[in-house]
Amino acid sequence: MYAKITGTGGYLPQDILTNEMLTKMVETSDSWIKERTGIETRRIAKNTTTWEMGLAAAEKALADAGKTPKDIDLVIATTVTPDSFSPSLSCLVAGKLGIVGVPAFDVGAACSGFVYALDAADSYIKCQKVKCVLIVSAERLSAITDYSDRSTCILFGDAAAAAVVEASDTPGILGTYLTSDGQKGDMLTVAALYAENPLGARRREPGYLQMNGREVFRFAVGAVMEAVDKVLEKTSLKIEDVDWVVLHQANARIIRSVVERTGLPPERVPGNVDRLGNTSSASIPVLLDEMRKEGKIRPGDRVILTGFGGGMTCAAAILQM
Ligand code: ACO
Repeated sequence: MYAKITGTGGYLPQDILTNEMLTKMVETSDSWIKERTGIETRRIAKNTTTWEMGLAAAEKALADAGKTPKDIDLVIATTVTPDSFSPSLSCLVAGKLGIVGVPAFDVGAACSGFVYALDAADSYIKCQKVKCVLIVSAERLSAITDYSDRSTCILFGDAAAAAVVEASDTPGILGTYLTSDGQKGDMLTVAALYAENPLGARRREPGYLQMNGREVFRFAVGAVMEAVDKVLEKTSLKIEDVDWVVLHQANARIIRSVVERTGLPPERVPGNVDRLGNTSSASIPVLLDEMRKEGKIRPGDRVILTGFGGGMTCAAAILQM
C-alpha cells in the first residue's frame, strides 16, 4: 500500500511588498536584494489570519482531490506563525471545515514542516491507522518579521498551501528522510515565552525572527544535498531518475548551488522565490501546487521535495505523482 498526494491547493494574499517599497523602510536597494536573494516581490496578509489562509488552501485541496471534510480522518498543520498556541492551527482549520472526531495536530519543524507532515501522513496511512490525511501549511511571516532589520525583512512573505494524502494501490510517496540538529538551533530563532520566568504571568508580544544568514546559507546547501542523497539511497533511485526537484524557496543562490551540485538541468529545479520570497513551510507545497496546476508535473513524474529550516531541521521526500 502507498500514500499518495491526490489534491493540492494554494492561497496567496493579495497585497504585494516590492523591493522598491523596502528601500523606503531600510537602507537597501533593489539590485542588492535581487543579486543576493533573487527576490523581487512578496505577498503580505494585511487583514488575514494564518488560519484563514490555511482554510482557503485546504478548501481548494479538498476540491482538487474530490473529497469532502467527512472523508478526512487526520489533519496535520505546519506553521511558525500560529494565531494561537491553543487552539492549534490544525484544530482551527479542522473546526472551520467541520472535521471533528479525528486527530488533529501541528508539526513544529519550521520550513521543513510540510515534508515532516508528509512523512507523518505516509506513516499513519502505511500502518493503516487512517486512509485520508489533510495537510495544511500556512505562514504569516510578516507578523514575526522586523521591518527595521534589513538582513531579514527582505526575505520573507506570507502564503498557505494544503495537500490531501490518500491510501493508494499505485506508487505515491516512495521514500522520506528527516533529520535535525538542535545544537545548531541558534542560527535561526523566534522567541515565544519568557524562559527565564516560567511561573510569571507577564504577557509579551511574540519575538521577531532572528537569523545568522551566512551560517544558515552554509547549513542549507550541505543539509539539502545530504537529504537528497539519503532519500535517493533509501529508494534505490538515481538523481537521473527524478523529473523535478521542488526545493524550499529561501534564496535563489541556495537553489543555484543545489542545481550545480546535483548536475540537474536548472529547468528541473523550478522556483517562485522571485515572486513570493521565503514563505517557510508553505513554500514547498505552494510551488508543488503551482506546478501541478500549470501542468508541468504530470501523472507518473518523480518529484523530490526538500526543505531546511529552523531547529535546525532538514527533510526530503520522493514522490511518484
Ligand atoms: N541591503 C543591503 N546590504 C545588506 C542587506 C540589505 N538588505 N542585508 C545585509 N547587508 C549588508 C550587510 O550588513 C553586510 O555589510 P558589511 O559587509 O558592511 O557588514 C553585507 O551586506 C554582506 O552581508 P552578508 O550577511 O554576508 O550577506 P549575504 O551575501 O550572506 O546575504 C542573506 C545575506 C541574503 C541573508 C544570505 O545570507 C541568505 O540568504 N542566507 C540564507 C537565509 C535563509 O535561507 N534563511 C531562511 C532559512 S530557514 C527559513 O526558511 C525560515
